[in-house]
Amino acid sequence: MKIAFFDAKPYDKISFEKYASIYGIRIKYYEPKLNEDTVELAKNYDGVCAFVNDKVSSYVMEKLCSYGVKFVVMRCAGYNNVDLKSAVGKIKIARVPAYSPYSIAEHAMAMLLCTVRKIHKSYIRTKDFNFSLDGLTGFDLHGKTVGVLGTGKIGQAFIGICRGFGMKIIAYDKIHSCRDTVTYVELDTLLSESDIISLHCPLTEETYHMINSDAIEKMKQGVIIINTSRGALIDTEALINGIKARKISSACLDVYEEEAAVFYNDLSGLIIEDDTLLRLISLPNVIITSHQAYLTNEALDNIAKITVENAVKLMSGERCENEILFMS
Ligand code: NAI
Repeated sequence: MKIAFFDAKPYDKISFEKYASIYGIRIKYYEPKLNEDTVELAKNYDGVCAFVNDKVSSYVMEKLCSYGVKFVVMRCAGYNNVDLKSAVGKIKIARVPAYSPYSIAEHAMAMLLCTVRKIHKSYIRTKDFNFSLDGLTGFDLHGKTVGVLGTGKIGQAFIGICRGFGMKIIAYDKIHSCRDTVTYVELDTLLSESDIISLHCPLTEETYHMINSDAIEKMKQGVIIINTSRGALIDTEALINGIKARKISSACLDVYEEEAAVFYNDLSGLIIEDDTLLRLISLPNVIITSHQAYLTNEALDNIAKITVENAVKLMSGERCENEILFMS
């Protein structure tokens, strides 16, 4: 079996070769992202392996189909970038629904602690032998209310961590899926009562820009927003306005709605064209990581293992529990 692997990074190769060799799969690692311009690289392959910022549009899907590509294995949980409808009856799609919810939940907490205790600022100060504490006052997380939006695997892992910090937890989800006891509230209540809001629901038509100016208006003065889910859950302009109005005291963003053009690339030394991103980065109370939350050894190993197993099952026609089916 031959797989064309898009948006490949050196750490991907390390984890995937381990499992590819077990199953005798040949993987060609392509650095470019999969999109309308690069889809031709998938000619003569049985399958394609894609990631969060590849664009598996209907055009790409049609091209893959015409090349005889039989499956697309997403090496991620989210699949908002895949046009499922155009794959029906032609190309099978699978994903990795869970590989380490802890990796993302722990990153969300790492970002929260970083901003609350201003670790990012003190790290730079002490490197410059500046041992002043002026401006570094934080606050206790203990006793604060955290609103968890989306209580699936990652949301629940995050709730467990917050519980350890002695925080009050409220949650909003379309379905009350949390195994532990958690207080579910209406979305408006979560927005108005939370000191910290952490987003853990998928990007869908329904959740697109769910954090917009109306939602921010309802939030508590000084709220902290954490987004480790998908960038487009937040209307970035509204977020910036909320920060400028001093309503939002801090934003911790592992994802950004226009991230595809910049994240995962070393652009240091280049002029960034995205003015919105430039403004975000220039704000002192915004911490951005480059869609890094999943990046742990455990998660990378699980992603490679499950993705390769998905490919083997889809190729052989065996039932694949991780196949994504189009729901009209
Ligand atoms: P999950 O499927 O286990 O949980 C998602 C939860 O969101 C479910 O409980 C669902 O009912 C809820 N939900 C769906 N639509 C909703 C709505 N309109 N309003 C409120 N709740 C809604 O997914 P999991 O594994 O917890 O992942 C969550 C998201 O995290 C993924 O969709 C993905 O976008 C993101 N993610 C980010 C990563 C990163 O590295 N930053 C890595 C992995 C996932």
